[in-house]
Amino acid sequence: MVQKILFVCLGNICRSPAAEGVFRAMAPGVDTDSAGTGGWHVGEPPYGPMQTAALARGVDLSDLRARQFSAEDFARFDLIIGMDDANIDEIERLRPSGTQTPVRLFTDYAPQSGASTVPDPYYTRDFDGTLTLIEECAKGLSEVL
Ligand code: 4NP
Repeated sequence: MVQKILFVCLGNICRSPAAEGVFRAMAPGVDTDSAGTGGWHVGEPPYGPMQTAALARGVDLSDLRARQFSAEDFARFDLIIGMDDANIDEIERLRPSGTQTPVRLFTDYAPQSGASTVPDPYYTRDFDGTLTLIEECAKGLSEVL
């Protein structure tokens, strides 16, 4: 049974905290966390424009703080979800031998969206479009647990 889910992106200040915030509201019985494969923003709250866009949809991200993904996360979580292929590659690079924890793309849970990756709004600046996709993925995920 999936009880602990980790959402992973690059910086842990835009996509993965938004995914965590959206998903935890849909599935309050599941333990959630998020992390970044990079360590530049460790300890920081989610990026301001992402917090603003999320709050406009009723999702408060202000309690979240960035941390870096580590190999120990394979033992701590039942499911690890990356936002793009680079995230998946970096997660798998750190996989300890013998661990079976599944690693999936978030967009796998929203095939109807046609998206194969969650675009990074830190670069695209389309925070709202990314949130719309994250909501679709989170809904799909909540339906298969
Ligand atoms: P995220 O976006 O991976 O969705 O949190 C990024 C935020 C910051 C950086 C990269 C991606 N950065 O390089 O600072």
